[in-house]
Amino acid sequence: MDLPIATDYPYRLALTTAISLAQQAGALILDVHRRGPRHIVVKGGNPMDVVTEADTAAQALILETIHERFPDHGIVAEESGGDRPGQGGAIWYIDPLDGTTNFASGLPIFAVSLGLWVDGRPEVSVVQDVVRQRTYWAAAGQGAWMDSERRLQVSKTTELSHSVLATGFPRSRAQVADNNLAEFVHLTPLIRDVRRSGSAALDQAWVADGRMDGFWEPGLAAWDCGAGVLLVLEAGGVVSDYQGEAYQPGGKQYVATNGLVHEALLAEIRHARQQAGFA
Ligand code: IPD
Ligand code: CA
Ligand code: CA
Repeated sequence: MDLPIATDYPYRLALTTAISLAQQAGALILDVHRRGPRHIVVKGGNPMDVVTEADTAAQALILETIHERFPDHGIVAEESGGDRPGQGGAIWYIDPLDGTTNFASGLPIFAVSLGLWVDGRPEVSVVQDVVRQRTYWAAAGQGAWMDSERRLQVSKTTELSHSVLATGFPRSRAQVADNNLAEFVHLTPLIRDVRRSGSAALDQAWVADGRMDGFWEPGLAAWDCGAGVLLVLEAGGVVSDYQGEAYQPGGKQYVATNGLVHEALLAEIRHARQQAGFA
């Protein structure tokens, strides 16, 4: 695989493997998408949490090769059965199908997300836009790219009022009052517009690509951001929690922006949370 990275880049095999697996899993998912209605299984009795045969098939495809090529790497993957504690500080965060609700409804917005972190730092990221067949990838110190053709660059928007932001809501939203609705209601009149795409991985890829100016969401899992963090950072953006502290996998507050609107967005999120009594 011919990639625009330095010859001594240390995670080349991990990067080429992740790109190839994301594309293979993407092809598998696209095939099921094109064939029509999907069989949906509700997880744990929560109708807001669903899984399909494509999620499990894509994960099995990905894990088989990761197990074989990187036997000492840890794995945290969304669909059960794949998790393995790491031994050398290297951990893969894998979402085999991000945007399952869209996929299950035939809405063409879903992705495959693979991120390798080593000793708490993101090193390799791949987000495959399944329907548009685009591969967004990043390698630490080597930039963020789309299909190795175009280097990604975050937007130059400086005002929150001119920003297009994305967000999402936790699956516990019916049971928990602190469910992002207060932040959503507060921010929506303050910005150009807001999107709820249904794929956190694509939201982050689109921030990296300058299509959106920022993204915030509470309660994401490590596999939702495992790849997106490095895409945004390598494209010149900023990632943090709501206090502006560095994000670590498993963190429950997530904000990724072009950097220029970051502080203003954090301030409005905190204001909304304070008004709602959550701060
Ligand atoms: C979901 C999507 C969605 C986000 C949810 C995630 P899944 O992932 O990324 O955009 O709002 O929080 O759980 O379940 O489709 O892999
Ligand atoms: Ca996900
Ligand atoms: Ca998923």
